[in-house]
Amino acid sequence: MKTLRVLTGITTTGTPHLGNYVGAIRPAVTASLNPGTESFYFLADYHALIKCDEPARIQRSTLEIAASWLAAGLDPARVFFYRQSDIPEIPELTWLLACVTGKGLLNRAHAYKASVDKNTAAGTDPDTDVTAGLFMYPVLMAADILMFKSHKIPVGRDQIQHIEMARDMAQSFNHLYGEHFVLPEAAIEASVATLPGLDGRKMSKSYDNAIPLFAPRGQLRRLIAGIVTDSRAPGEPKDVEGSALFQIYQAFASAQETDALRQAYADGIGWGDAKQVLFERIDREIAPMRERYQALMADPAGMEAILLAGATKARALATPFMAQLRQAVGLRGLGRPAGAATGPASTNAGAPTAVNGAPTVKAAQPSFKQYREKDGQFYFKLVDARGRLLLQSTGFASPRDAGQAIAQLQGDGPAALTRYAGQLAPVAGVAPADVAAALQALKDAAAA
Ligand code: TRP
Repeated sequence: MKTLRVLTGITTTGTPHLGNYVGAIRPAVTASLNPGTESFYFLADYHALIKCDEPARIQRSTLEIAASWLAAGLDPARVFFYRQSDIPEIPELTWLLACVTGKGLLNRAHAYKASVDKNTAAGTDPDTDVTAGLFMYPVLMAADILMFKSHKIPVGRDQIQHIEMARDMAQSFNHLYGEHFVLPEAAIEASVATLPGLDGRKMSKSYDNAIPLFAPRGQLRRLIAGIVTDSRAPGEPKDVEGSALFQIYQAFASAQETDALRQAYADGIGWGDAKQVLFERIDREIAPMRERYQALMADPAGMEAILLAGATKARALATPFMAQLRQAVGLRGLGRPAGAATGPASTNAGAPTAVNGAPTVKAAQPSFKQYREKDGQFYFKLVDARGRLLLQSTGFASPRDAGQAIAQLQGDGPAALTRYAGQLAPVAGVAPADVAAALQALKDAAAA
């Protein structure tokens, strides 16, 4: 079965509110249980630096957001859950991508353009208060996404352009250096509601109308009491249309519960009673999580350990991939001939060096080529120094599985052949001894 990789980042500048829970956290936790997917959720703290220069707030928000996701049921053993700044390969990849990204592409990014337009309208220099970090925001985000070969990126509509830019960067890089990156797609969940805030506008930190996800019971009740309503008295029928209270209720309640409140509106329920119904319904879902949240918040060292374990797991993918990318662009050790298609000392599959997929330079060593077929599966082949096919794999479900097989064949030499016998299709006219000799050569080179 093909595994779908889903990845999303959460900027660590605030405290999660009910809108974040309904719009992002809850659907992500549900999706992470899907057996056909591998999920990556990370705390985007490098991104946070672009918007926030308060160190204590970055740190506090990182803890709060991590605790919120775990309290809401995310299982770090089942997903990749990590802090962006624990993965040094991310800024490293940011630079490689920056070098294949047109400045003009970044000029068109909405967030940057909005700042420039504002400055222009105010008659100041167009780049007033625009940092290079803001300008580079889409490149850093592309590195987050491309590093883990993610297919689907669940984001809000405001982020679609960034995903498209990540695709553009992946395409430019692949065109120049061979097929290394998967092209990601934005996943916009139409069924997920945007929650109105206390004043009826979209719930957002910047409108100051948000209800913190883990507000203590008393505060939750008080905040809900402050939701705007119209001035209809108890006994008067009320409109569900345009009622923020009703919409928030709907995001938590079952269809039956929602119908019951709709009827109560028609029957003239008083606003005070309606707010009590809403409070009880939210608290029923949140209360057990709130307890877990408080326990997690009380143990920052425990959280640190969870995040570091997540980083180790993520880097098991990022480190070898980065080595492959460095090799591809020519950041290579000097101990082997220039122009070698594959670094024999690398633990990774050699990627084709040519734009059109045909090797432009003769590999001095046998080498592995990894690629994806139209059937969605991942394959590799071993070719000798002159490009003759020696070994052909059958399909693997994930690039990681294929990469692992390559690493073992490369590192263990001919001894690894029996281990993968079932996944290697015979190549007509190739003597087994030639295959063994090629693998031995790779093993020797790796050991050297
Ligand atoms: N820019 C995203 C936001 O503001 C956060 C983010 C950072 C992200 N890196 C990402 C989202 C990678 C998806 C994928 O919401």
